[in-house]
Amino acid sequence: MLENDLLLRAVRNEPVERFPVWLMRQAGRYMKEYRELRAKENSFLDLCKNVELAVKVSLLPLELLGVDGIIIFSDILVPLESMGIRVEFVDGEGPKLYWSGKLSDLKAYQPDDNGYVYEIIRKLKEVQNKVPVIGFSGAPFTLASYIIEGGTSRDFRKTKLFMWEREFEFKTLMEKLTQALEKYLRAQIEAGADLIQIFDSWSMFLSRTDYEELVFPYVEELISLIKRKFDTPIIYFFRGSSSFLDLAQQTEADVLSVDWSLELPVAMLRSDKVFQGNLEPSVLYANEDTIKFKTMELLKSIPRKSGYIFNLGHGLAPDMDFDKVKLLVDTVKSYTIS
Ligand code: CP3
Repeated sequence: MLENDLLLRAVRNEPVERFPVWLMRQAGRYMKEYRELRAKENSFLDLCKNVELAVKVSLLPLELLGVDGIIIFSDILVPLESMGIRVEFVDGEGPKLYWSGKLSDLKAYQPDDNGYVYEIIRKLKEVQNKVPVIGFSGAPFTLASYIIEGGTSRDFRKTKLFMWEREFEFKTLMEKLTQALEKYLRAQIEAGADLIQIFDSWSMFLSRTDYEELVFPYVEELISLIKRKFDTPIIYFFRGSSSFLDLAQQTEADVLSVDWSLELPVAMLRSDKVFQGNLEPSVLYANEDTIKFKTMELLKSIPRKSGYIFNLGHGLAPDMDFDKVKLLVDTVKSYTIS
């Protein structure tokens, strides 16, 4: 039994004393303690593969912020290595990926290649029983965009041209990723993950038609493949939330994690889904009074007594101030639902 199962109760729409809170990218460079542990390994990828250190990093937000869930320390790009794509993280430059552009050069995904991820989950379940452990993966499109672009992009031009000019190959790539991610997430659930979040971090760059026809069917399939076998709650995080909300509602995801483009209370009143998120991360650059005001404003607008998880509309950034992040978490935890 978990000491604090608020997050799981909120997902099941059961009564909660207060709304649970965790933050995307909660373990990262904005924390001095993270930077110290990070310095023990040469590269970010080495840190992801060092189970003992990755467990310590995963636990930092529980210890220092008192969040209601632990997301495992890893990255959405790690399963791609098993598919024959070289992944590098150059400090200060972000990820770099190397793919020939030929589908025949993609290898079949072997879940065992990510054994260290499952080991991190098992250890996190062993060393603490305070809060649930959240496993994760990228959504097929967000990973396809990294593979095609070779890294992060400003306009996703290569991805769009690939999608439009080589549609059949794009669909084949998306199908391969969907199959791989199903195996990867299944192994995380079998290792003990209490919840799963799927990150569609770049969906907001797409037109409605492209999302609907070339992107959405795969994430919908991924979620339903997992749901066929497990009742582990799934959170679908998708940016461009106001444009794609009606489609996201059609998935079997238990929770929709939304950005700040939509009016959350309106969306919640029209839906049976549980919602997560929506505070604009830049609020954390503001002064303390503004942070408290904006956070309270969001909390007070929630038209339910459960079925909501506090989070940002996207992740924390490395240049955010730890004390302000702590203030945000404390503000959410001090709010009692009336
Ligand atoms: O949320 C957490 O605390 C858990 C760990 C986590 C990381 N990445 C750690 C990380 C999670 C859930 C991710 C997901 C991820 N990775 C996403 C989806 C979430 C989002 O922000 O949209 C994406 C798009 C990536 C790809 C990626 N990995 C990028 C763009 C970068 C930033 C590059 C940079 O240097 O700024 C990374 C690296 C990364 N992932 C870091 C961390 C802590 C920083 C690297 C370091 O510490 O050296």
